[in-house]
Order: sequence, then structure tokens, then C-alpha cells
Amino acid sequence: MTVPATAAVQLTGVRLDRGGRTILRDLDLVVPRGSITAVLGPSGTGKSTLLAALTGELVPAAGEVRVFGQSVPQGSRDLLEMRKGIGVLLQGNGLLTDLSVAENVALPLRAHTRLPEPLLQRLVAMKLNAVGLRAAADLYPRELSGGMARRVALARALALDPPLMLYDEPLTGLDPIASGVIMSLIRRLSRSLGLTSIIVSHHVRETLPIADQAVVIANGGIVFDGTPAQLESSEDPLLRQFLHGEPDGPIPFEGAVPRTRAAGAHA
Ligand SMILES: Nc1ncnc2c1ncn2[C@@H]1O[C@H](COP(=O)(O)OP(=O)(O)OP(=O)(O)O)[C@@H](O)[C@H]1O
Ligand SMILES: [Mg+2]
Repeated sequence: MTVPATAAVQLTGVRLDRGGRTILRDLDLVVPRGSITAVLGPSGTGKSTLLAALTGELVPAAGEVRVFGQSVPQGSRDLLEMRKGIGVLLQGNGLLTDLSVAENVALPLRAHTRLPEPLLQRLVAMKLNAVGLRAAADLYPRELSGGMARRVALARALALDPPLMLYDEPLTGLDPIASGVIMSLIRRLSRSLGLTSIIVSHHVRETLPIADQAVVIANGGIVFDGTPAQLESSEDPLLRQFLHGEPDGPIPFEGAVPRTRAAGAHA
């Protein structure tokens, strides 16, 4: 652990339980500011659970989670304040169907600021412009394609200019072209706004190319932490099974949680 002073997110000895069961244990992780980190892993291994710990939705059973140097608060007022600095793109889009695109993007601004209406509308237009959807402001979610809806959700997540963005499976349900659009948007927005981005996904091929850091979760913990190139060249059977989508190997379909921590290539 060499960069705590510049870390956007730092996990130390974190254990996460859900429903009385330990989902993830011994999590040590540093996400440098301004980086794009891909959190990869098979379905059901705890990727969304990890994000829940970053937003304070799930309190760790052990260890500490820090966001921009501050321990994630448990009191609701402090937590709310911290949450303003975290943009979240959920596994579904979470758009409200009876609100227009513009009103969906305006939601966080209305909830957390008292901006005068004309300024608020200008900000909404800017966010929609950033995702290439300025012309869609007056449409309703049912009138959008899957890719467009995802981009609206992205604009809404960016509404408050959060320095940290969390993406939970941003490609689910999208075709390859829409996926490419979303990934290049995520990269462009991260770089141009200097955001720290954490992308949770099992779409390895689409996610790795835009990542600075790759983290693999399996078997109840972090089994890899390094650069995408280090991950691609790993000889570890578990990582190879995951990367190449092989059905047989060290990743079981269910249950058992061995605690090997392979290839800990901390950059
Ligand atoms: N609210 C909850 N209560 C109890 N168990 C839960 C809860 N949420 C998730 N789990 C369990 O935690 C484990 C990890 O779930 P999680 O949703 O974090 O996985 P995931 O890696 O995000 O999967 P996917 O790729 O399918 O989204 C699963 O076994 C799941 O059943
Ligand atoms: Mg998930």
C-alpha cells in the first residue's frame, strides 16, 4: 500500500457479510485518484456488495473503508453529505418512467441544491450534451433505446459533478455497438473531468481496455490486483479460467470459499 495520500478509495482488512453470511473477506485495496479501476469477477461473487460498502449502504463487519481519506460515515447526515460526492450508475438504470429525460437528470440537482430554475436547466442540458443526448431532453424513458437510457442514467449520475463514479454492470443488456459507446463515454468523461471511476463488470473484454487497474474478485476475496496487462499475462489457473470463460477450473459454481490470494501483483 504505497499511495494512501492520493487514494480515492482505500479498503483495509474489510469483511462484508450479507444475510448472516460472509460474502467477501480480507479486502485490501487502493484505488488511486483519477484512475479507472475494473472490478471483475464471476456472477454472484460480491461485486455489487463491494460497491455497497463504498456508498455506505452496507457497513463492513470488519475493517475500514475510506473514501477520499475519510472513513465512510455511519450517521445518516454525514453519509448523505459523502454520497453527494459519489455518482452511481446502478445495475438497472433506475430512471423514473413518468418523468422526462431532462427531469430524470434534474432529480439529484433538485434534491441536493437550491439552484435557480434557469441555471438548473442549463446544467441539465450540459449533462445531456456530455452524453450526446441533448436532443432527447423531452423524451420519456419508454421512448429510449437501451443504450440511450443507459446514457441518460449516466448523465443523471454525473449531475452533481461527483469526483468518484461507480458503475455497476454498465453494459448489461446492450448490444456491442451501444457497449462501445458507453465504454468510450466512461473513459472520455473520466479523463476530461479527472474523475476516479470504478467499473464493476463481468464483461472482461470491453472493460479491461479502458482500465488502469484491474481487480478480480472470486472465491470470497480479491484474487488479483494489478494492471490489465499483468492480468492478461497471468498463468494463474483461476484467472485464466475466468478470463477465457472456461466452465471447469478453480472457480466453483456454488458455495465453498477457499481463501487463496493468488498473483497479488500490487502495482
Ligand atoms: N441483500 C442481501 N441479503 C442477503 N444476501 C445477499 C444480498 N445481496 C446479495 N446477497 C448475496 O451476496 C452474494 C453476492 O452478491 P452480489 O450481488 O454482490 O454479487 P455480484 O458479483 O454483484 O453478482 P452479479 O454479477 O450477478 O451482479 C450472493 O451470494 C448474493 O446471494
Ligand atoms: Mg452485481
